[in-house]
Formats: sequence, C-alpha cells, structure tokens
Amino acid sequence: MDLHDYRDVAENYDRYLEVMYSVRDNYAGFREFYLELAKQYGSGGVVDIACGTGAVLLYLAEHGIMTDGTDLSEEMCRVAASKAEKMGLKLNIYPADMTKFCSGRKYSLAIIARSGFMHLPSPELQRAALMNIREQLEDGGILTLNTFDPSPLFQEKQMATDPEKDYVFQLEYVNSEGYREKIWNAVAYDPVPQIMHGNWKFETFDAEGKKIGERIRPLTMRQTYRQEMRYLAELCGFEVLKVCSGYHGQEAGNELSGLVWLLRKKG
Ligand SMILES: C[S@@+](CC[C@H](N)C(=O)[O-])C[C@H]1O[C@@H](n2cnc3c(N)ncnc32)[C@H](O)[C@@H]1O
Repeated sequence: MDLHDYRDVAENYDRYLEVMYSVRDNYAGFREFYLELAKQYGSGGVVDIACGTGAVLLYLAEHGIMTDGTDLSEEMCRVAASKAEKMGLKLNIYPADMTKFCSGRKYSLAIIARSGFMHLPSPELQRAALMNIREQLEDGGILTLNTFDPSPLFQEKQMATDPEKDYVFQLEYVNSEGYREKIWNAVAYDPVPQIMHGNWKFETFDAEGKKIGERIRPLTMRQTYRQEMRYLAELCGFEVLKVCSGYHGQEAGNELSGLVWLLRKKG
C-alpha cells in the first residue's frame, strides 16, 4: 500500500493539496495547460492516467471534453467518480495500473498529470507503462507527463534522513470530518535506484487542541534525470516533441526545474 491507496488520504487529498499549493504551487497553470492540449490534440479521445481525484479529468469535462480516467488506487477512483456524479457527469473512471490498463478504445491524447509518472519505482515499470500507453494511443498520438530534475542539494539532505524519525512539518488543514490535522513527512533518498522513500504522518486534533489520532502512510517515488527520460521515451517508440519548464509552454533551459514532456507516438 502506498499513500494514495488509503481511503483517508483519498478523502482528504483535495483538502490538503489546496493548502499545500496555496503557499508554493509547483504546478501553477496545469489545468489550463491540459485543456489547451486537449483542444489541440484530443479530438480522437483523451485519457487521464493516474487521474487521482480528478483534478484534470473533471476540469476537461467541465469544458466539454469528455475524458476517461484511470488510477491504480481504487480509493482515488471512487472519490473522482463521486465528484463526477455530483457534477452530473457520466465519465468512465476505473482502477488500473498504467503498466497494464486497456479500455478497449484508442486515444489521441494521454495525460499523466502532476508527477503521476514519478510513482513508478523502477525503469522497468516506467518502460512497461510507456509501452502500454503507446499501445493505447492512435498513430501520432500524444503523451504528456512530468518529471522533476533531481536536485543534488535535496538529495544530500534526504540521504541523511531517517524516514521513520526525521519528520518535517508540512501543513495544517481541516479534514473531511471537520478535525484539524497537521501533516509531517520524512523522506529519504537512495541514489543508486534513485528512489525517494518515506512516510507521511497525519496528526488529528480535537476542538481543544488535544491530539486524538495519528496515521502513518508510506510513499515511494523515483527521480528521473532528463537525459534518461529522453532515451527511455525514444526506446519506447516516442518522439520528444517538446520539454517545457513548468506549465506555461516555456522550453526547458539549463536550470533545474519541473519538466513537462510532450511525446508523440512514432509509427
Ligand atoms: C500525485 S497523485 C496525482 C493525481 C492526479 N493526476 C492529480 O493531478 O491530482 C499520483 C497518482 O498516481 C497514482 N498512481 C501511482 N502509481 C500508479 C500506477 N502504477 N498506475 C496508475 N496510477 C498510479 C496514485 O494512485 C495517485 O493517485
């Protein structure tokens, strides 16, 4: 089980992300970016892979682009489907691993938004996912995903972190049951497999400020270097169309950055 597989995480995901990104938004403009891509490339069908609670999927649907959604976590799919139902939208949202999903139709655009791809913990699984997504795309279809350039400064810090002990405060929010919660995390880095592994701690407080609960949820992600990603995409039958720094279409330069990849399925 990983962070997003837990019901409590899925049910509170939108709430704590709102607080997290009100301070520093690594993904500013992502919904609008995907909407523009969907208008440009989505006429043959769009799939939101690792759709989570539907941040992209529902935004596209609100703008008239009916998108399929799939995520490894049944709990995330359940939250996304219930939000869709409340909005009166009939969408195909189903649990599946991106290394294997197949809905029986082809798409002209596949989206993996907000670091979903980084949850694949090995190059073998990344490759399996890219090969499978390629199968689900029409010829010339587009896949967009994102990675973060690994930062040596963070890596150095994380290599000295004990993922069971060295918790750092992240944020405070109000959970779906109306209780105040503090979120802490402790993330360690292993440079050989390029794995970040750690724990998220959720502490719950009553109205008097007394701690009434604590949950620990694990999370594993893999850091991917941009040169590695480029070769992996090519190996799996994609042409790299563009690599942007962030969601405003700016071509990535030499500085470390969050990268948004646009890949086209080669014939
Ligand atoms: C950071 S969340 C992003 C969710 C959503 N795209 C968003 O922007 O809010 C990453 C998601 O990837 C999903 N995930 C992790 N591994 C996956 C896999 N192998 N196949 C499909 N989804 C996966 C998790 O369940 C989680 O919902």
